[in-house]
Amino acid sequence: MESTKSKPRDSTGSDLSEQIKAVTKDSHVRAENTQLMLSYQKGQITPTQYKLLLCSLYEIYQALEEELDRNAAHPAVQPIYFPQELARLESLELDLEHFFGPHWRKRVTVPAATHRYTQRLREIGKNSPDLLVAHAYTRYLGDLSGGQVLGKITQKSLGLSGNKGILFFSFPGVSSPNRFKQLYRSRMNSIELTEQQRQEVLDEATRAFEFNIPVFDDLQKMLSITEEASSEKGNDAASKTLSKTF
Ligand code: HEM
Repeated sequence: MESTKSKPRDSTGSDLSEQIKAVTKDSHVRAENTQLMLSYQKGQITPTQYKLLLCSLYEIYQALEEELDRNAAHPAVQPIYFPQELARLESLELDLEHFFGPHWRKRVTVPAATHRYTQRLREIGKNSPDLLVAHAYTRYLGDLSGGQVLGKITQKSLGLSGNKGILFFSFPGVSSPNRFKQLYRSRMNSIELTEQQRQEVLDEATRAFEFNIPVFDDLQKMLSITEEASSEKGNDAASKTLSKTF
């Protein structure tokens, strides 16, 4: 359920939501300009590209959501904890099942950059839960923003009908993404942080983008290998090449 109830704002100056947007502006531009995101913006996403992306998103959200769940009562997590509205893991599982069938778990292949990202998520979930907000912001607010367009492009490029295979992009618990983003920002602003903690959250948000960018770059590299291998040897050989390389 969406609720507009929030704690009073921190009075130490500019809001966290504004600061986080400002400090990640350049990183956002760089993320948008990765080859994978450029393909998206050209409306050219292939099934292989999308399936590889889903695999990485699955690992990322599994780590993010397990750490958010475990720290749900932490004062820096509780205000931005919206599992009913935002949780993506189940949707990703259904999307993967749609493409890979019932044994999809065996087909999940991710590059080293995805492992580095999930390791960081686990580490901060364990040692610095104050920083989880930076990662939750980067993924969920992105999914509720540009992500909505990416969903439509995926559906069109892959010729999918209805929500099949693209549940990841749909948020049935969020009736208005813009209003929800406002609520989320006000909840972020209600988190009580010392100046040092606030700076750490801002640094971690930039880092969160820096963890996403190499994932997209690595996926693109995996694709060139898959394409080369499949044109030379056929698809089975391509997936063997992938698991050896990554
Ligand atoms: C916000 C586009 C990729 C994270 C937005 C907004 C747009 C957008 C139009 C709304 C800006 C606003 O409300 O002022 C895109 C496009 C992308 C892309 C076209 C690629 C094709 C990404 C990626 C990430 C990301 C890869 C992170 C991994 C965010 C975040 C916000 C956002 C966190 C919320 C900003 C805020 O209001 O604080 N994006 N985006 N975006 N995007 Fe992206």
